[in-house]
Amino acid sequence: MPLLAPPTDEAIGEAAGRLAAGWVVAFATETVYGLGADTFNVSAIERVYGLKGRPARNPLIAHVLDSAQARPLVAGWDDRAEALAEAFWPGPLTIVLPRSAAVPKRATAGWPTIAVRAPAHPVARRLLETFGGPVSAPSANRSGHVSPTTARHVADDFAGEADLLILDGGPCEIGLESTVVELGRAGHDPGPGQSARPRIPRILRPGAVSLDDLRRTLGEVELAATAAQGPSPGTSCRHYAPDTPLEVVAEAHLAGRLASLTDPAAVLCFDAGWDAGPHYPVLMPRSPEAYAARLYGALREADGLKPSRVIVESPPREGPLWTAIHDRLQRAAEAIDNNPP
Ligand code: TXA
Ligand code: MG
Repeated sequence: MPLLAPPTDEAIGEAAGRLAAGWVVAFATETVYGLGADTFNVSAIERVYGLKGRPARNPLIAHVLDSAQARPLVAGWDDRAEALAEAFWPGPLTIVLPRSAAVPKRATAGWPTIAVRAPAHPVARRLLETFGGPVSAPSANRSGHVSPTTARHVADDFAGEADLLILDGGPCEIGLESTVVELGRAGHDPGPGQSARPRIPRILRPGAVSLDDLRRTLGEVELAATAAQGPSPGTSCRHYAPDTPLEVVAEAHLAGRLASLTDPAAVLCFDAGWDAGPHYPVLMPRSPEAYAARLYGALREADGLKPSRVIVESPPREGPLWTAIHDRLQRAAEAIDNNPP
């Protein structure tokens, strides 16, 4: 089993030393746990891909303390980026900008852009401070699996990795991955007669920082097409999936759907007022914040019950955090539709 460490000064020092030596460490953030490596160490970055089984073309987020640390990583940190950093950092917002030539290509899977985020969690910040440089980190799950929101989830996904140090910062407060917003692309050619005005910012992945939040800071902002077609390379529908087939069912159809299933299903629901029959209810909170914080743990618990299916009672749609929650549920469900067992 990996080493789970409470975030003492000693453990943070040990983790920073490991990063400096080219090792990979897992650490708490306010969104989900990350699996980090030194952004400037190509073999350490390779280790992250190897450990996760992550597709080689899916780029990583570089975690930084603040905009001063982000600036050298990007080519063209502009007023919009600074305004976003002032409004939302440290916090659950990832900003995509053209990559600076100083950053190894491998740190962004060869993409001409780089994603940067300053996390708010004290454990992530102490690690970044002690290490003294940017840390590239995807979510600390096996590729394609549900993101981890506790240190135990990370340990479960990497059970065979006795050398992996996990800085345990407790359960993640937000529980959904950061909002990813793209500000511009390197080499974007505006075409003849067009001004080189930056393109309209686009949300590639919804999260706790909402479309309206971003519009208040940036003015015009677009939401990228759909989860499956979105331009963010890692937001394909194979992501965020539990091991068991998952479907989202409206409350009005829940009892009927469950009655039609003879094999036991795990049911993420707001109350278990229906006849449970052979099924296992997993109760979910009604507030969007609490639901988001609980969702990935609930999906892992549901998987652990080894049901034939996971049924999710469709939560409300109105409200920004519910939008992000539905995005993740849709991806988890589509993974099943598009990849039948
Ligand atoms: O909350 C989070 O963002 C967590 C914590 C650990 O910070 N990290 C996380 O990383 O969710 P990951 O690798 O699981 O998801 C990063 C997402 C992927 O969809 C990836 O494709 C996208 O960000 N991304 C990274 N770099 C990008 C780039 N240069 N252009 C477009 N999308 C990018
Ligand atoms: Mg991930």
